[in-house]
Amino acid sequence: MLASLGCGNPTTVAELREGETVLDLGSGGGIDVILSAKRVGVTGTAYGVDMTDEMLALAQQNAREAGVSNVHFLRGMIEQIPLPAESVDVVISNCVINLSVDKPGVLAEISRVLRPGGRIGISDVVAEDELSSADRAERGSYGGCIAGALSRSEYEAGLEAAGFEEITVEFTHQVADGMHGAIVKAVKTSDPERKGLPIVRPTANAGCC
Ligand SMILES: C[S@@+](CC[C@H](N)C(=O)[O-])C[C@H]1O[C@@H](n2cnc3c(N)ncnc32)[C@H](O)[C@@H]1O
Repeated sequence: MLASLGCGNPTTVAELREGETVLDLGSGGGIDVILSAKRVGVTGTAYGVDMTDEMLALAQQNAREAGVSNVHFLRGMIEQIPLPAESVDVVISNCVINLSVDKPGVLAEISRVLRPGGRIGISDVVAEDELSSADRAERGSYGGCIAGALSRSEYEAGLEAAGFEEITVEFTHQVADGMHGAIVKAVKTSDPERKGLPIVRPTANAGCC
């Protein structure tokens, strides 16, 4: 519980299966990576990406204490994920995407690392559509996971532009006036001819810390 700074429980919405490869963006203390590792079993793998050494060290300690070995914590930015293209079955994230200053970049990177037909199960803060950016900033800070939140239709449009379909954004609980904890689900299109798919960039090396 102390390892969690999230706003939901993405591992329960992502319907993980035995043997799958899961990636948690902004893995923090590692709780969702550890839970995912247990759900995909020893034939599966769970990766966490985080930009801070302190959180990576905490996550590694928590994984050791939990006795899971099929986990890898990588230092990196969610705007430039340190994994090869089409190497992941499921991307999860818990209250992190609202913190990014380049959300189209994050969504394009998620699409790049997912295999065709791969899926996302994301918990995040999402605003109602009528709230302007200024309205959101009035309700809380960027670092407090409020001011940087996308609206529901911004999330849907961003995912569609990044090559996703079957997109749903479900509000679960209010966190401020007109702003909600939400579950975001989508599937990466498996149609290679689909217009608007992001360009797959050359793969980066996975630098495990
Ligand atoms: C609100 S905490 C959530 C941590 C974790 N997901 C949880 O549920 O407990 C945000 C985490 O995301 C990381 N983070 C924020 N922005 C990031 C970025 N652009 N790239 C990589 N990590 C980021 C932070 O270092 C921090 O560990």
